[in-house]
Amino acid sequence: MAKQKTAFVCTECGSDYSKWQGQCSDCGAWNTVSELRLGPAGGRRGTAAGAGNRAGFAGARPEAKLLAEIATEAVARIGSGAGEFDRVLGGGLVPGSAILVGGSPGAGKSTLLLQTLCHLARGRPCLYITGEESLQQVALRARRLGLPMDQLRLMAETNVESILAALGSDRPDVVVVDSIQVVHSDDIASAPGSVSQVRECAAALTRYAKQSGTVLLLVGHVTKDGSLAGPKVLEHMIDCSILLEGSDDSRFRTLRGQKNRFGAVNELGIFAMTDGGLREVKNPSAIFLDRSEEASSGSAVMVVWEGTRPLLVEIQALVDDSALGNPRRVAVGLEQNRLAMLLAVLHRHGGLHVGDQDVFANVVGGVKVLETSADLALLLAIVSSFRDHPLPRDLVIFGEVGLSGEIRPVPSGQERLAEAAKHGFRRAIVPKANAPKSAIPGMEVVPVRKLQEALAAFS
Ligand code: TYD
Ligand code: MG
Repeated sequence: MAKQKTAFVCTECGSDYSKWQGQCSDCGAWNTVSELRLGPAGGRRGTAAGAGNRAGFAGARPEAKLLAEIATEAVARIGSGAGEFDRVLGGGLVPGSAILVGGSPGAGKSTLLLQTLCHLARGRPCLYITGEESLQQVALRARRLGLPMDQLRLMAETNVESILAALGSDRPDVVVVDSIQVVHSDDIASAPGSVSQVRECAAALTRYAKQSGTVLLLVGHVTKDGSLAGPKVLEHMIDCSILLEGSDDSRFRTLRGQKNRFGAVNELGIFAMTDGGLREVKNPSAIFLDRSEEASSGSAVMVVWEGTRPLLVEIQALVDDSALGNPRRVAVGLEQNRLAMLLAVLHRHGGLHVGDQDVFANVVGGVKVLETSADLALLLAIVSSFRDHPLPRDLVIFGEVGLSGEIRPVPSGQERLAEAAKHGFRRAIVPKANAPKSAIPGMEVVPVRKLQEALAAFS
């Protein structure tokens, strides 16, 4: 028998070593080097390990062609049936692509894909391969959710060679593998879910997808810190990686692209988990803005720009006397460093001393706001809480704050204002450069250039 080859690979960066070591010398991560069993040299062709390995992720198509000669008409995107899912994918599923849907347990990955596939199966052959649930469990769920069940083919299988054989005979247009962590190959000795298994099985499935033009949807588990359980290399071979997130206590789930070879990655899709499965949320601004009637201090509404649409969110701040020598600065849904920076700007240019105060900031509804347009709203929320002086309920704020206290413009100012006006906001504090040229009916816009002007506008 051919000798089994072993390599040691870092699950973070993919560097390989001849022996195990505690820290990866390339990326510096600890405890990430794990054993990778390579298949025996000259293994069976077309299997996960072995000679098939050398074909690369895109499959073996050896002849060179002119870029212009390659036919692209045939690659029409397939609509998934859920507008929010299509939005994140960049307009639908691309034939021959491998898409990884990640998320923590219970996020709703299986539900989302089962719903999608049941609808897709009405128009084209689809196959759902379940490795985690039994056929009965999947059928029960589909029946309970009232999904169309007559066309979707289902298979309970975890062996990658059997899956490839089934794909070869079934020839589906869209296939779901739930999940990649339970799929294993006979040619690899290590346990399912290990680096070698996940890497080789995903490579074999991806290769099949590229060669046959099938859409491959892989379910992947993520670890606590949000990275994919298993090797980082997986993210290189797939075309799109999307993450389904949602806190346990919230009904809302956000679908976000982390990598997309066929579209933008900054799109956000929003779903609600209901007793009837995942439902799209078509008007997300309305849900994140569900506020009490009374104005309260420390709360400000801003408009974030998510991909191609505006979203109204509420930012809350709480400023309180600190009992600690080193006051706390906690930001949830916002960047911690940005909060510290803004507090320094507020002290220096706004004359507000919060050095002995605990400052907590939060974005309501579990949304993550990473863009700088949240600066001004966050600052005014902090000031509002500090002075215990509520901001008007019909006021919307956005703008970036620079280190010298200047208020900088943000992209798509007009669209943001229009969205706020649509939701009944009557006043806005915006950067001078974002002030509309012609007045927006029913909305009073206060353009500001400096932090002092913004502070004066609201007191
Ligand atoms: P599931 O799709 O099994 O999650 P994943 O595959 O990502 O692990 O979804 C499981 C969760 O969704 C579970 O905690 C219950 C909830 N759920 C509902 O609230 N309503 C429903 O109709 C369904 C199907 C699931
Ligand atoms: Mg599942």
